[in-house]
Amino acid sequence: MLNLAWATILLLADIASASPPSGSGLGDWGPAYTKAKAALAKLSLSDKVGLVTGVTWEGGSCVGNTSPASKIGYPSLCLQDSPLGVRFVNGSTTAWPAGIHVGATWDRSLLNARGAAMGAESKGVGVNVQLGPVAGPLGKIAEAGRNWEGFTNDPYLSGIAMQQTIRGMQSSGVQACAKHFILNEQELNRQSMSGNADDRTLHELYIWPFADAIYNGAASVMCSYNQVNGTFACESEKVMQILKGELNFQGFVVSDWNAQSSTVNSAVSGLDMTMPGSDFNSPPGSIYWGQNLINAVNSGSVPQSRVDDMVTRILASWYRLGQDQNYPPVLFNSFNGGNGAPDVKGDHGTLARTIAGDGIVLLKNSKNALPLSKPKSIALVGQDAIVNPAGANACSDRGCDTGLMAMGWGSGTSEFPYLVAPYDAISAQSKIDGTKVILSSTDSTASGAQAAAQADVAMVFINADSGEGYISVQNVPGDTSAGDRNNLNAWHNGDQLVAAVAAVNKNTIVVVHSVGPIILENILAQPNVTAVVFSGPAGEESGNGLADIIYGRKSPSGKLPYTIAKKATDYNTAVVPGNDPYTEGLFIDYRHFDQAGITPRYEFGYGLSYTTFSYSNLKTNFYDHSAGNTKPIPGGKQGDFDNVATVTMTVTNTGKVAGAEISQLYIGLPSSAPTSPPKQLRGFHKNLIQPGKSQDVTFILRRRDLSYWDVPSQSWKVPSGTFNVYVGASSRDIRLKGTM
Ligand code: NOJ
Repeated sequence: MLNLAWATILLLADIASASPPSGSGLGDWGPAYTKAKAALAKLSLSDKVGLVTGVTWEGGSCVGNTSPASKIGYPSLCLQDSPLGVRFVNGSTTAWPAGIHVGATWDRSLLNARGAAMGAESKGVGVNVQLGPVAGPLGKIAEAGRNWEGFTNDPYLSGIAMQQTIRGMQSSGVQACAKHFILNEQELNRQSMSGNADDRTLHELYIWPFADAIYNGAASVMCSYNQVNGTFACESEKVMQILKGELNFQGFVVSDWNAQSSTVNSAVSGLDMTMPGSDFNSPPGSIYWGQNLINAVNSGSVPQSRVDDMVTRILASWYRLGQDQNYPPVLFNSFNGGNGAPDVKGDHGTLARTIAGDGIVLLKNSKNALPLSKPKSIALVGQDAIVNPAGANACSDRGCDTGLMAMGWGSGTSEFPYLVAPYDAISAQSKIDGTKVILSSTDSTASGAQAAAQADVAMVFINADSGEGYISVQNVPGDTSAGDRNNLNAWHNGDQLVAAVAAVNKNTIVVVHSVGPIILENILAQPNVTAVVFSGPAGEESGNGLADIIYGRKSPSGKLPYTIAKKATDYNTAVVPGNDPYTEGLFIDYRHFDQAGITPRYEFGYGLSYTTFSYSNLKTNFYDHSAGNTKPIPGGKQGDFDNVATVTMTVTNTGKVAGAEISQLYIGLPSSAPTSPPKQLRGFHKNLIQPGKSQDVTFILRRRDLSYWDVPSQSWKVPSGTFNVYVGASSRDIRLKGTM
């Protein structure tokens, strides 16, 4: 029943979603399974166990490695971080904008292209499984350390981002690993705490983007450290049943590193691969699988069929991506400085720069502060304007906040081959423009004010950083952050730096590089702050991406992938010291602000442009197949009843310059549905439109997009009654309203 409900919906959704590139899609596992089963027949129990057990941390070149099986030409599989590039490779791969920054582009083609380029680089240096992308943490807690590795805290947008990234990565031949499944929403106590979410919340928020990952063919899923409703995720039959039953996942489940805690139970529940193959705790160096798994099979406590299933899944993923054909061997060693790998960057810097610019969100722009037009002089203030003087990679796993924040810290990082800081890119344009640049490259308020007092325009650079909990980074003296942020303030006394500059310069432009929302109230209270430019961790081309926006080489088009509140307590969530009861349920981020009637500072989906757009011509069409209507919807295929509705409208560029608009569709469920968020994102499009021109936009709604998760029947249900349809420029700037 369970299986059927999801499988039917998912299969149809995939068929309907206009031709995924080869190597993705749910339907094409068959041939890979045939090959995997034939290969399996040639393996001994000890070979099989070698394929499912890591060779211990630092036991191979990658962060995760398994034993080879030469009889079937199977290599020591290389699993390597990270979601934004290839970790531990020195200089020869691209340091991409982080997930949250790409999320802010809302751009399917950029997501896909980044995935493809990143996947090609992973393959180019011999990585078999790239450990990304990230849909968990989803980001329900604004302070949580690793939110920036994922795309947004909206499940719909996250799902599309997972879809596009995975299709891109796997079209280049690398196996994607959707992580971390599931409820891994904070760093504090992540290895012990339990996330206790109700079934509806689990499905409508947290499982949702993983469903998109799986039915777009993700080869693997990483189970998370935390417990889910009282059982460790990697040991939980329920968690594995969701993946392999409900979602009909055909690939393999790999543990997060040391997230396994038993030999038999993990195997029987459904874990398929353990990484890195050692348990550091009890006793040190002990290994749950390896010989212990062989013993467990021999004693009958783990069925042989379960081990065969593990191996079949792992081999099928490998065959399905064609990794049995001329796949490069591993060409780097993570543990010797990552030197010597071939340069596989190609011209990817261009794409990295495009994304760096398109992910920037213009929050405020008054008195025509931006774009800049050849100012006579400009002061650049703050250490975030420059590269860390000790070097972009000086802190291991980027575990410090010195200089420009272009990625967070932890395992979700890569080495910068180079890093263009704002100062570099602005200096280059200033030479052309004849602008005098005055730099104050510290966070000293005195020297910042001194620089700003001499310039026509002052740009203040502030940031906020976070990362994975195994590294603690100093925020302000005495205040360290072990992964999660302690608060939502700018780091290094950023508010005071802005105040000092704004006190002496009437055209103060604030540039923020942040892993997530920060509280901007003090900054916005400064009357001389004319503009606020908000960027995520934008990778190696950060400075050039910024310059493209502030000089008006293109219009800003990024929109917030989360809400910026007026105060931290306006969010309904916080890092918790013990287990997390998920009492907020469905009401996270804008779903909560809407429900509770709280006005945010900048709402989910918000972002300014250098031009303006108008919306018109709303039409809704619901294809009620249950009423015997057999006509498929436009854009769908004959027999396709998964796409159930369309919403169409027209966007017009009413300003003077070209610009891209991200139009958004929100749906409010009929009153017959159980209590639900007032509106939820269920569609978006990004259209580049010339001044005076219009474009027609069609949002296609899948059945799931109009459903709630019905717990008693364990299925998605379309409620009867009238749906509210909202189309607009953000979650609160609704331009067109209708019903369906
Ligand atoms: C632990 C992290 O949670 C995970 O994301 C990463 O892939 C592994 N370590 C390997 O570094």
